[in-house]
Amino acid sequence: MAGRILIIPDGPASLLYATELVERLRRRKYSVQVAPTAYDGPSATAFVSELAWAALSGHPCRAIEALDEAAFREQDLILLGPVSPAVHSVFCRGKALAALQGANRPVLALLPQVPGEPLPASPQDFLSLMPPGSVLMQGGIPHSLGALGQVLLPALEEVLGQVDRLLTRQDYEGLRVLVTAGPTAEDLDPVRFLTNRSTGKMGFALARDAALRGAQVLLVHGPVSLPVPRLPNLTPIPVRSAQEMHREVMKHWQEVRLAILAAAVADFQPLHCAETKIKKGEAQELFLPLKRTPDILADLGAREKRPFLVGFAAESDDVEANAQLKLRKKHCDLICANDIRKPGCGFATDTNQVTLLAPDAPPLALPLKEKSEVAHAILSEILQRL
Ligand code: C5P
Repeated sequence: MAGRILIIPDGPASLLYATELVERLRRRKYSVQVAPTAYDGPSATAFVSELAWAALSGHPCRAIEALDEAAFREQDLILLGPVSPAVHSVFCRGKALAALQGANRPVLALLPQVPGEPLPASPQDFLSLMPPGSVLMQGGIPHSLGALGQVLLPALEEVLGQVDRLLTRQDYEGLRVLVTAGPTAEDLDPVRFLTNRSTGKMGFALARDAALRGAQVLLVHGPVSLPVPRLPNLTPIPVRSAQEMHREVMKHWQEVRLAILAAAVADFQPLHCAETKIKKGEAQELFLPLKRTPDILADLGAREKRPFLVGFAAESDDVEANAQLKLRKKHCDLICANDIRKPGCGFATDTNQVTLLAPDAPPLALPLKEKSEVAHAILSEILQRL
């Protein structure tokens, strides 16, 4: 991700929470500068030295009293985080407020809450003073302050998601999107099930990118071990089987303008799911009768007034011909075809290479890239065709 962030940490949460936040932002390739509070009391520099902040961020620290309009304007985002209510109120009046308003850069403020005490600020008051697009996150889950106890702050994943969103162009704003992702699990008995190698990575990357770009996203996903993206405008709907995924998609498709079906849905399910564990007995062979699962993509494709429909075709031979066939048979607007035999493609890899096929355009081969970048490129192509 690209962008310049000025982070202003304060108080004991500097010690574990803010240092990790700086490190995680830097790992995401943001350019991070720190302006730690420095006063006689529990300031950021009382807990973590200026030298340590500079080493963590990779840039010399900024002096907090020297932050004027020009200094804020050099940044893409100002992160007050986390700051005590006292420091927070400094940024809500006087010189600091005028400089922030003049620079017109979004502010993300993280306000800690002491467990058992009321929230210290009203988001409406804060947001009415801050430049447009600013966000206040307060309270959250317990974070350790070592021997000093605990403080409630938002999960770092949520803060990072919010930062990514604030620094991303909102070209999907107002659009409702449904994404399916991951494998499905088809139960044989209370213990065993049939599934596949899908991890959900590609579908999650698509759902996350759409949400970062401002879409309201419904993410219907099968059982996965990857963490589900956490963003305020992304609603995960966990399911287990193809039948359940079909049911959820059919419940919601009329609400969305775009449906991207990236799940690796099982094609067959056991004819019956045994109520008790199947015993092996003396059997040397076991035959399982299977039946077809509903084809969610084909079912949506057959609907009148359906959303813009995007499918995936993971193929191991004759990739383009098979994908073209799928495009027509399932009545999609776009198929993302990939050759799962190619190095760096397919299940459980961090990268992918897809070719986009549309009924009325020549194939468009996107370069081999990280799945997050492939997702971004696919969504940009979709936006042009919507
Ligand atoms: O026919 P095939 O499984 O190769 O088609 C892949 C595409 O169809 C993917 O977009 C997948 O999510 C979707 N699909 C589906 N329901 C199924 C099987 C596939 O939505 N039962």
